[in-house]
Amino acid sequence: MATTFWDEVRGLKTTENDWWEIFHEASKLGRYDEFPSQESIVARMKELLESLPYDPYPEVALPTEMTALDMRLSEAVLSRTSCRAMRPRSIELRDLAALLHHAYGITRDNSGTEYTRGFRAAPSGGGLYPLEIYFHTKHVQGLRPGLYHYNPLQRNVRLLRGEDLTPRIAEALVPFQSTIAADASVIFFLTALFERSTFKYGLRGYRFILLEAGHVAQTLNLAANALGLGSLNIGGYYDRQIDELLGLDGLTQSTLYMVAAGERVEGTEADQDHHHA
Ligand SMILES: Cc1cc2nc3c(=O)[nH]c(=O)nc-3n(C[C@H](O)[C@H](O)[C@H](O)COP(=O)(O)O)c2cc1C
Repeated sequence: MATTFWDEVRGLKTTENDWWEIFHEASKLGRYDEFPSQESIVARMKELLESLPYDPYPEVALPTEMTALDMRLSEAVLSRTSCRAMRPRSIELRDLAALLHHAYGITRDNSGTEYTRGFRAAPSGGGLYPLEIYFHTKHVQGLRPGLYHYNPLQRNVRLLRGEDLTPRIAEALVPFQSTIAADASVIFFLTALFERSTFKYGLRGYRFILLEAGHVAQTLNLAANALGLGSLNIGGYYDRQIDELLGLDGLTQSTLYMVAAGERVEGTEADQDHHHA
């Protein structure tokens, strides 16, 4: 059935393609919108935890002496490309620490401010930090193969599943790029605990969350580049399969984006191919 003018006025749209419009409209800030009080915001932020603890899982401390990222910013930005031909070079724990810390690490103290959470390398609307980063690897020296969670507060990673999940990640990628699972040194999963932002900002909070995942992914791209690694941002994956792999319910917390990093294989057809996604 075709939509009428009045359906449009009421916001009743009939095709899936219009949902983005409805979403965007609904996520706009109105002059008369109200925020919760500062006290209730602080109380809710405490309940929603600064970082998921995963306390019983075995931890590996990240070295404070991480690999320096010495590439000039201009070079890091201008030489960034999506790397689709990579191989799994082994990397050091201090390289991984550099990637994680630059992407979402805590960089400043919050004392003396109205914010309750430590400020991080990436900006976050309201200082709410809704993202949680997981990664899978079997190519980091000193780490057992498996699935890990990064805790920026404790500056450590915890082993959630000590098994090689490469085949399951491959299956969860859209078929044309399933080989990335085996070719990457490490694959990062950027996930969001939505309520950390939406309790304060509503639908606009959801918009913020997606923007923030972009900030983090970009830094991972540039940091990987500075370490001499190629990287690829991945939107082509089956969300539910990845969520299940990470143990997320997909509702309160879900995967937003993946970033693979590995050694660039230069001059291959895949390396030239920019038409996939
Ligand atoms: C949100 C997003 C999702 C993407 N998903 C994929 C993907 O699943 N597979 C892929 O090969 N490239 C993916 N890309 C990379 C784009 O295809 C790539 O950035 C674009 O072709 C431009 O090339 P460049 O990154 O080398 O500049 C994605 C990029 C973005 C921003």
